[in-house]
Amino acid sequence: MDISKPERSATARQRMFEILEHGRRRDFASRIIDGFLVVLVVTNVAVVVAQSVPEVAAEYGTSLYVFDRLCVIVFAIEYAARIWVAPEHPMLRGNSPLMARLRFAGTPLMIIDALALVPWLLELLFPQSTLVPLTRLVRLLKLARYSPAIATIGRVIVSERRALMACVIILSGVLLTAAALMLAIEGHKQPGRLGDMSKTMWWAAAMLAKIGGGETEPVTALGRIVSAITVMLGIFCFALPVAIIGRGFYEEIRRRDFVITFAMVARVPLFSKLDASAIADLVSILRARTVTPGTTLMRQGDRGDAMYFIASGSVEVSSPTLSAQLSEGDFFGEMALLSKEPRTATVTAETSADLLVLEVDDFLRLLDRLPAFKEHIEQVAIERQHGRLKDS
Ligand code: CMP
Repeated sequence: MDISKPERSATARQRMFEILEHGRRRDFASRIIDGFLVVLVVTNVAVVVAQSVPEVAAEYGTSLYVFDRLCVIVFAIEYAARIWVAPEHPMLRGNSPLMARLRFAGTPLMIIDALALVPWLLELLFPQSTLVPLTRLVRLLKLARYSPAIATIGRVIVSERRALMACVIILSGVLLTAAALMLAIEGHKQPGRLGDMSKTMWWAAAMLAKIGGGETEPVTALGRIVSAITVMLGIFCFALPVAIIGRGFYEEIRRRDFVITFAMVARVPLFSKLDASAIADLVSILRARTVTPGTTLMRQGDRGDAMYFIASGSVEVSSPTLSAQLSEGDFFGEMALLSKEPRTATVTAETSADLLVLEVDDFLRLLDRLPAFKEHIEQVAIERQHGRLKDS
C-alpha cells in the first residue's frame, strides 16, 4: 500500500483513476475526458494527412505544427497521469507503487500510448526523415482504448492463436509444396518466370490468393493440374481462418454480452419476492458478466467496488481460513461494500458462470430503497463473518 503519500493525494489518485481508467458508465468527467482525447487523436491524424498536401502545408504549416506540439503535450500529460494512477488498478494492487507502474507501462494500451509520443522524439533526432509522418499515424491506435470491438478482436485472436497458427503452418506448407512442384515441372521450360524458388513462390502465392499468376501460364499438362489444385487449396486455406475468427467472435460476444432478462433477475432468490417494477429497475442497473473457469473475480485485500449475483455456474470463495462454494442464486462481494473494509476472501470462478454485477453506488442506493434487501444482505454478511458458510 502506498502509505508514504498523504491521504489527500491517495484520494486524488483514486479519483483520477476512476476518470481515466475505470470507465464508469455514469461518470460525467470520465466521459468528457474520453471524448476530448478521441477528438484530439482523430484531429491529430487528420493534421498529419493535411500536412502531406504541399498547398495546405504551405498555407497553414505553422498552425498545424503548433497544433501537433499541443497534442504531444496533452498526450504526454495523459501518459504520465495514467502511470501515476496505476497503483489503483485492481489487478495491480499488492504490488509496490513502482512495480505497479512498471507493470502497467508494459500493458498493450500503454505501449501504444508510449509509441504515440515516439514520433516527437524521432523528429528531434531526425528532423529530415520522411518516415516521421508515417510514425505519427500510430496515434490512431490510441482509439483502441475507446473501442470495445477492437479489444474484442484482440481477445479473439489471442484465444484462437493456436488454431490460427495451424492455418499459417498449413498455408506455408501448401505454398512451399506448390512452389517446389512447379519448379520441378516447369522450371526448365520457363526459366525466366519459374526458374527458381523465389519466382515459383511468388507464382504459388498469386495462385493461392486467386489473383492469378499474371503472365505465368503453365505450359505442361502436369503444370496445369498443379495450378488447378493450388487454386482450390487457396480457397480452403483462406476460408479456414475466416471461419475460426467468426466462431471466436461468436463465443466472445456470447461470453461478454449476454442479455440480462427479467426472468434471470427474478430467479435470484433474493429478488424473487420483489414486485415487477422493482425487478424491471434492477434489470436496468445490473451489468452482465460471463466468466470462464479459473477467472479471479476478486482478491482478498482488494477494495470493494461491486457485488455479484450468480445467475448460473459456481465460484469458489477462499482465504487462509476458509473454503466455500457458491452457486446459482447465491451472491458474493457484499461484505466489503457494507463494511467499507478490504475484501475478506478471494473469489474464483469454478465453472463458466453468468454473473449479474451490482456496482457500489447502485448497491448503496438499493439498500436505501429496499429495506428487505438490506436486511437480508446484512444478515448473510454477519453469518459469513461468523464463519457459517453459504447464503440464502
Ligand atoms: P467480500 O469480503 O466483499 O469479498 C469476498 C467475499 O466472499 C465476501 O464479500 C463474501 O461475499 C464471500 N464470503 C466471505 N466469507 C464467506 C463465507 N464464510 N461463506 C461464503 N461466502 C463468503
